[in-house]
Amino acid sequence: MQRLVDLREILRYVPQYRDKVFVIAFDGAIVEHDNFRNLLLDLALLRSLRVRVTLVHGAAHQIRKLADYTRLTPSNLDGTGVTDATTLQLALTAANRVTHEILEGLSATDLRGACPNSLVAHPAGILQGVDQEHTGRVERVDIGLLRALLDNDIIPVVPPLGSDGEGATYRLNSDNAALEVARALQAVKLIYLTSQPGIMIRQSDGDTLIRQMTVDEAEVVLKKNKNDFIGPSLSKLTAAVKALRGGVPRVHIIDGTVEEGLLAEVFSNDGIGTLVHTNEYQAIRKAQKKDARGIHQLIKHSVENEELLPRTLAEIDRTIQTFFVFEVDGNLAGCISLSAFPDDNKAEMACVCVSSKYENQGIGARLMQYVEEQARSAGIKELFCLSTQAVNYFLKKGHFGLGSPDDLPPPRRQRYDASGRRSQVLRKLL
Ligand SMILES: CC(C)(COP(=O)(O)OP(=O)(O)OC[C@H]1O[C@@H](n2cnc3c(N)ncnc32)[C@H](O)[C@@H]1OP(=O)(O)O)[C@@H](O)C(=O)NCCC(=O)NCCS
Repeated sequence: MQRLVDLREILRYVPQYRDKVFVIAFDGAIVEHDNFRNLLLDLALLRSLRVRVTLVHGAAHQIRKLADYTRLTPSNLDGTGVTDATTLQLALTAANRVTHEILEGLSATDLRGACPNSLVAHPAGILQGVDQEHTGRVERVDIGLLRALLDNDIIPVVPPLGSDGEGATYRLNSDNAALEVARALQAVKLIYLTSQPGIMIRQSDGDTLIRQMTVDEAEVVLKKNKNDFIGPSLSKLTAAVKALRGGVPRVHIIDGTVEEGLLAEVFSNDGIGTLVHTNEYQAIRKAQKKDARGIHQLIKHSVENEELLPRTLAEIDRTIQTFFVFEVDGNLAGCISLSAFPDDNKAEMACVCVSSKYENQGIGARLMQYVEEQARSAGIKELFCLSTQAVNYFLKKGHFGLGSPDDLPPPRRQRYDASGRRSQVLRKLL
């Protein structure tokens, strides 16, 4: 069993995820697995943290079972090939059954859910000379409908079916449906729950699980290893790349049969499955305890030059959760801290420092921009910073304005007066 996710670790992510959309896509097989009940509890936890959870599901597993039971032969299971009339009927029955099971599970967990007709589809048409019949492609996602549900604390449960508004229903591939929903809702995460550990590739020395890659790397793997993907890996990674290119910053592919898997993936730095992320995220991340020494080392020179306030290793260690670091090839290239003053809806940006080896590459500016986004999404209304020697930097690169000590939150004002440094106060409304 996975280790239990630390409560402190969860709380660290709370402001970042509050009111953000997570699209969670279940393969049909996951809904039938024993772990599904645990996943429902995980969803309840996400909802309690005000994450706007939206579910999309597949039904291939159930279509296969239904076909066996009725002795019918489906033309395709997962909505990537031809859907003939028989398969469409099987898909309708199977998908509705899965939707119902999810809704039933949500009720049993005291969560409200509803199945919206939110996918407008058109026929996939003729591909390489073959008429795809009732297989469709998502033309549009009814965002208004999904948002109306989310605004009312109702979890949308989206089946892999779309209609064209003229009475025709189309069978969709659920990986694609999920990515379209994630894109349309500007989700911060798209999470695929499947029956294998993540993206798996067959290699000469055995099957390999890919732990983490950027979207650029994923595109290379898709081209180079097209025939080496195991199980649903190819479909999931293809969808992941489309989602990332469409603005979803992170896509996770994880084993939905593992207890704690979903929480470990969302709330820790070392998830269990595959994470595919935009290139930007490769560089900036939250600092961890193990970074304290590196940060102490990084700022040493600037502290000696009185550009930065002195901080002991113990102080950095104690406030490590306020730091973000910029990594280049695993090396610490820069750092920044962001400390909130919730009573005043303000936050202080401090300790901006870039190693001389990496200066003038825009890293300082990107760190500032990044924490500004973090502050904004945490509902902070004003950022401020103090500087003795980099005032112009904050004015020009950070687009701050000049402020005065009166702009500081009272506890910070006290420390300001006590320090005697008489730094310039800079402020920025968000
Ligand atoms: C200030 C600092 C963070 C900039 O990092 P960086 O990644 O090199 O900055 P960017 O690449 O985003 O911007 C570079 C530009 O800022 C300018 N700049 C750098 N330091 C500056 C300063 N102290 N004052 C004014 N401008 C400065 C550079 O001349 C360059 O200008 P250009 O765009 O005209 O070429 C870095 O120089 C540093 O670590 N300094 C020591 C610590 C410090 O003073 N921190 C700020 C106080 S909290």
